[in-house]
Amino acid sequence: MRVLVTGATGFIGGRLLPALRAAGHDCVVLTRDAARYDGPDGVDVVEGDLLEPGSFDSAVEDCTAAYYLVHSMESPDFEARDRRAARNFARAASAAALSRVVYLGGLGEESEGLSPHLQSRRALEGVLRDGDYDLTVLRAAVVLGAGGASFELLRQFVERLPQFAALPLPAAVRTNCQPIALDDAVASLVGVLDASETRGETYDIGGPEVLTYEQLLRRVARAAGRTLMTMPVPWLPRSTATYCLDRMTGIPTVMIASLIEGLDNTVVVRNECPRDLVPVDRTPVTVAIRRALAE
Ligand SMILES: NC(=O)c1ccc[n+]([C@@H]2O[C@H](COP(=O)([O-])OP(=O)(O)OC[C@H]3O[C@@H](n4cnc5c(N)ncnc54)[C@H](OP(=O)(O)O)[C@@H]3O)[C@@H](O)[C@H]2O)c1
Repeated sequence: MRVLVTGATGFIGGRLLPALRAAGHDCVVLTRDAARYDGPDGVDVVEGDLLEPGSFDSAVEDCTAAYYLVHSMESPDFEARDRRAARNFARAASAAALSRVVYLGGLGEESEGLSPHLQSRRALEGVLRDGDYDLTVLRAAVVLGAGGASFELLRQFVERLPQFAALPLPAAVRTNCQPIALDDAVASLVGVLDASETRGETYDIGGPEVLTYEQLLRRVARAAGRTLMTMPVPWLPRSTATYCLDRMTGIPTVMIASLIEGLDNTVVVRNECPRDLVPVDRTPVTVAIRRALAE
């Protein structure tokens, strides 16, 4: 099948591409800067910008399916940009008569009030669903892998800590999350394309464990050789956490602020992607962390 991968230069798209090639698909990549693309050989690379209609028509041409793995979280007006990009994509994909689109969004219960970042991810489902193709949505929490914004935030933070550290943390670190290993997220993305029963469906994907963000941070610290004592304190302002992470990591400030806001949202699997349709061995969280640190 000829498949377009948007976001192929990104964290998840970059790993998805070789997996799609290994599964026997012909791949086309869309990027705003073809000169920066250094993915696998044998892939057609198209330079275009989803914010500029007409600039990426040749990428969707002749494709049967596409992955939508784009976001502009580094930009302060990410909500408006993401909406425009998804709307332009849906129109072009419909005009090119694509049969299927797969979108990776975020977990979280709308009824609990999503953070702006998670709300924006969720809103894109509706925008993409307007196209004349079958949309499959997978929703994930933190994806554990080298280069992912959330994982890098944790990794860079703990690696700058001394060998032994005691830290006050915002109380929201007691919220539950269900991280997933990058390889498992990629296997799910590839798997839904091969399972036509998943057309038009929305599923949650996650690893084998639910844990709090505090536990996740401590696991990353332990795997990085640090001994960390943590104390969630209700009065600690989030702005303090954002400030510290901003000083200690190379992650853009706007991304840090979005991720800290998202700490309030429980992100656990409720409507699991059926394993008989998409069989994926779920990597234990600690194994996924060790692999990501080793990369
Ligand atoms: N990372 C996680 O932990 C995580 C967790 C849950 C869900 N997700 C979802 O997974 C998807 C991919 O996330 P990621 O972490 O892999 O993202 P990423 O590494 O930040 O990559 C974003 C991609 O978007 C592309 N892009 C941005 N604006 C564009 C535009 N105007 N036109 C064309 N391409 C554009 C970029 O391509 P160029 O710069 O080459 O143009 C880049 O490849 C997102 O939908 C995200 O919500 C991620």
